[in-house]
Amino acid sequence: MNIYLDNCSTTKPREEVIEEMVHFLRDEFANPSSLHRLGFNVEKKIEKARENIANFLNVKKDEIYFTSGGTESNNMAIQSVINKYNRFGKHIITSTIEHSSVLNVLKHYEENGYDITYLEVDNRGFISLEQLKDSLRDDTILISIMFVNNEIGTIQPIWEIKKLLTERKLKALLHVDGVQAFGKIPIKLKEWKVDTFSFSGHKIHGPKGVGGLYVRNELKLNPIIYGGNQERGFRSGTENVPGIMGLNKAVEIMRDNFYKEREHVRNVKAYFVKRLIDEIENIHINTPLDDNSSPYILNVSFEYVRGEVLLHYLEDKGIYVSTSSACSSKGTEKSHVLKALGLPDRAIEGTIRFCFSYDNTIEDMEYTVKILKDSVEEIRQITMR
Ligand SMILES: Cc1ncc(COP(=O)(O)O)c(C=O)c1O
Repeated sequence: MNIYLDNCSTTKPREEVIEEMVHFLRDEFANPSSLHRLGFNVEKKIEKARENIANFLNVKKDEIYFTSGGTESNNMAIQSVINKYNRFGKHIITSTIEHSSVLNVLKHYEENGYDITYLEVDNRGFISLEQLKDSLRDDTILISIMFVNNEIGTIQPIWEIKKLLTERKLKALLHVDGVQAFGKIPIKLKEWKVDTFSFSGHKIHGPKGVGGLYVRNELKLNPIIYGGNQERGFRSGTENVPGIMGLNKAVEIMRDNFYKEREHVRNVKAYFVKRLIDEIENIHINTPLDDNSSPYILNVSFEYVRGEVLLHYLEDKGIYVSTSSACSSKGTEKSHVLKALGLPDRAIEGTIRFCFSYDNTIEDMEYTVKILKDSVEEIRQITMR
């Protein structure tokens, strides 16, 4: 039995995605920049994929750029905004719980003379709009806030941020890391006046190494990658055609099943939480259990247990989970997100992240709770002897 509950790290590509990619590797392999018919046909399909994804996000087709994934999209957005607007100021606001692909870029700029304000989060993992308001300055050029946190699943109120900027008559731009939100919760980029938004293929049952960036048309940002002027000059490099077409297929299927799959995942998670609370003592649920968190993520601390030990106990029984963010570390460092919540080391060390998908069933959850209960009891008996 294999139960995969590590869907925040990556998801299993859908069969249709794999078939689509194989087709674009084996048959339609031409370079979309080539002038012959084969190249032209591939180019047309990429443009259709761009249109589909733009329609899903309710934005214009030429506001979508394909990239190699969430990390590159975050880097491109932040660095090209900084390059263009640094003559107006060097102050940037972000939060302490961002993904490393945001925090480490900003750290680089901090070391080079930029002033970065890190908004703290409360013990449930939410930024405070009051603190954001107080942090705004005339020289603020960028606010970079993630929509859904990849470790605890909290949804930040990004729809409120542009209102604060308008009230203060500030022109600072808003970048949203949407990697864990895309395809998981509703997104209204135009209504919320988001300037740039990142997404990634492998979190929505698409391929790894492909993603995208929405850039509001009026911005006209300059590239940080130069070359053959693909992607209208904003992201040079021969397009990852199988990746883009696989991403497009994943978006198509996700779009057609969005509400159905989200409802299913919600039920699976609710069942799992209830059974966990009923069956296992001394646990702490770190994900807020309301509509302010992603239905796809559940972070739980098991007291008197080390997360990595529990992970291997579960793995032995075919259950796959993570301790902290698989993308930022091998789980050897203490999670900066859990530290920011103010959790004691004892709780951080015993933390497991469960991330669900349409593929998980209630039976999977029943089995997982049983194995968890037995494993936690056994580990506690050994460690507390
Ligand atoms: C919130 C968030 N941002 C960015 C990324 C990076 O995306 P990618 O793996 O596509 O580079 C991840 C990946 O885990 C993520 O969870």
